[in-house]
Amino acid sequence: MVYMDGCFDTMHYGHANALRQAKACGDKLIVGVVNDAEIRRCKGPPVCNDEERIEMVKACKWVDGVVTDVPYEVTDAFTDELFEKHGVDYVVHGDDPCLLPDGTDAYAYPKRIGRYREIKRTEGVSTTDMIGRLLKMGARAAGEDVEEEEVKEATFCTTSARIAQFGAVKPAPTDAKVVYVHGAFDVFNRGHIDLLRKAKQLGDFVLVGVHADGDVRGRYGAQHPVLNEKERALSVLACRYADECVIGAPATITNDLLTTFNISVVIAEDESAHVIGGKDVNELAVRRGLYATVPREHDCSVLHVAQRIMENRAEFEARNARKTKSESAYYAQKKTMTET
Ligand code: CTP
Repeated sequence: MVYMDGCFDTMHYGHANALRQAKACGDKLIVGVVNDAEIRRCKGPPVCNDEERIEMVKACKWVDGVVTDVPYEVTDAFTDELFEKHGVDYVVHGDDPCLLPDGTDAYAYPKRIGRYREIKRTEGVSTTDMIGRLLKMGARAAGEDVEEEEVKEATFCTTSARIAQFGAVKPAPTDAKVVYVHGAFDVFNRGHIDLLRKAKQLGDFVLVGVHADGDVRGRYGAQHPVLNEKERALSVLACRYADECVIGAPATITNDLLTTFNISVVIAEDESAHVIGGKDVNELAVRRGLYATVPREHDCSVLHVAQRIMENRAEFEARNARKTKSESAYYAQKKTMTET
């Protein structure tokens, strides 16, 4: 059994990729989630609260169990507790330095006794990066003049290997009840997880249509999407309730889509707007009797997440200024993105 801990704030596909690699270091993966108060004390304000972050980690398909309220500063005593109480064999962490306040390595103890494994940190994405992108989006939405060169471009390069690592192992069996759910899935959050969980309950195979960047931009405005369609697809694919993903799916349900993927039902949240340019995007599914709605459980969207950040803008800007320094130092020393 292996153990990985972290904050997993605005959980992104970099975190998911860390959990994927950690899982590959053993047979079972237990994840320790640091609580809000600890994050605030050690790193700055969290964007997502305890409940949301725990929910996000639990929904990741490589996670077998979660330990909550773990300390940010890992002590030898806590590490012993992991070994003895939770049956952990190895502690796993990304290859970015993780230092205690006294400047020593947080994982020195498991390293010394040979019970530490290291995974490669995922390039081009981090909580700092997500907050930075959302701050820019919020500023633009508020009508502020954000210079083009000030906008931090996504540096993550989606390879076919990464898609394969995250993606479905098998296509839908011919007799499967395929549930189709589509949307932007921008800044994957708890609301998305609720929707995919409900989709899974309605069939055997959940196919997720991740709308193309241009469609999302056309629908919501120039500051959308925050993540590009490949990044959005990776977050969806890391979710245990999603079986397969159409990357850059059409915004409107077409005959071709329904027949190609043998779709039995198209579902959507009852409160979301499905009308673009005066036309219901699900109209064909409705007409064919293939449409169903599910209730919205949590009001969470990219706009809500951006709003939280904008409401505490000064704090998040200060947090990011600090974190950007350490991230830049990491990128300055890194040599390759190759993973084992
Ligand atoms: N991680 C990773 N790749 C990233 C971001 C995080 O591999 N792009 C790994 C970290 O190395 C750690 C785990 O994910 O092992 C949990 O990270 P977390 O504690 O949430 O935060 P950070 O390491 O600070 O990452 P971020 O800035 O994204 O919050």
